[in-house]
Amino acid sequence: MTIKEMHMVLHRNLGPFGTTAIGLGEMPLTIENNLGHDKGIETIHAALDAGCRHLDTAWAYYCSGGEEQTGEKLIREAMASWNGPKDEVTIATKVGHFRNFTDGRPTWDVDGRPENLIKRGKESALALGVDTIDLLYFHRPDPKVPYNESVEAIKQLVDEGVAQEAGISNASIEQIDIARGILGDKLIAVQNQYSPIYLDTADTLEYTAKVGLNFVCWSPLGGFRKPKDETKFDPFREIAAARGVSYQQVVLAWELAKGDHVFVIPGAHRPETILDSLHAGDLELTPDELVRL
Ligand SMILES: NC(=O)c1ccc[n+]([C@@H]2O[C@H](COP(=O)([O-])OP(=O)(O)OC[C@H]3O[C@@H](n4cnc5c(N)ncnc54)[C@H](OP(=O)(O)O)[C@@H]3O)[C@@H](O)[C@H]2O)c1
Repeated sequence: MTIKEMHMVLHRNLGPFGTTAIGLGEMPLTIENNLGHDKGIETIHAALDAGCRHLDTAWAYYCSGGEEQTGEKLIREAMASWNGPKDEVTIATKVGHFRNFTDGRPTWDVDGRPENLIKRGKESALALGVDTIDLLYFHRPDPKVPYNESVEAIKQLVDEGVAQEAGISNASIEQIDIARGILGDKLIAVQNQYSPIYLDTADTLEYTAKVGLNFVCWSPLGGFRKPKDETKFDPFREIAAARGVSYQQVVLAWELAKGDHVFVIPGAHRPETILDSLHAGDLELTPDELVRL
């Protein structure tokens, strides 16, 4: 990295962690169609070298039928071989999902039973190579398990020191309130899908601001796994063309402009895309542009 390429990535506080508002979503590096181990390490190192201080992974970021927890193990390896200030990096992981097959196709299944979450949380700490996970999310509600029982298991992991702070993901306002009741101040973040193609969670984005929680947008660029309505990005493309930046930067900047409590974790298969995304924090959209979007 040359001096010219180095820049300050926008910082925000995620609970007690001073970190970057733009994190690296690790999922594409280890689920199906990843570009291999070496490219994964290279991508994480490139993000960290460019100032990214927020990595997002999960127990379940591995290929269906393959070795489990490869995402967490990749992060551990990348951190071990990185020469930068490791203590500045906030690492978040999630438990409650696992990979499966449905009709021969790779799928995502849930197991929110307390005993499973406790076992998986401890395995996550082991795979990450830490005594205490910075931020541990309950990945997704399990319809077979009362929500409070799953969240109680996350609380137990915090009480036992397996995780420092807790988060929930794919949660409704009602579930956010249940989790607040159980976790109190230890609940710092809600990670929900949010992007120009997915605005159904806008109520939770507003609610988290009201109750003092952080909101982390997953698939902030609309994801890479399913075809999407590309026309939704047209207004972002227009502003990007006028500004001379990628439309992805405009999308991320628009999300970050929703409030100081908002974080984005764009995924990347390769260094180029995350390096571009990290510049979104430099892009201040004008009130006029925000109205157009
Ligand atoms: N909590 C949950 O249930 C949940 C669910 C899904 C995802 N997540 C998290 O959210 C993260 C992000 O979601 P995602 O990976 O599904 O989708 P995403 O971030 O919306 O999109 C990733 C795709 O966008 C491309 N991209 C990223 N930055 C770009 C840039 N600046 N210019 C051009 N292309 C760019 C990547 O390209 P390349 O492929 O070319 O690199 C990749 O194909 C995941 O990695 C994971 O950590 C959480």
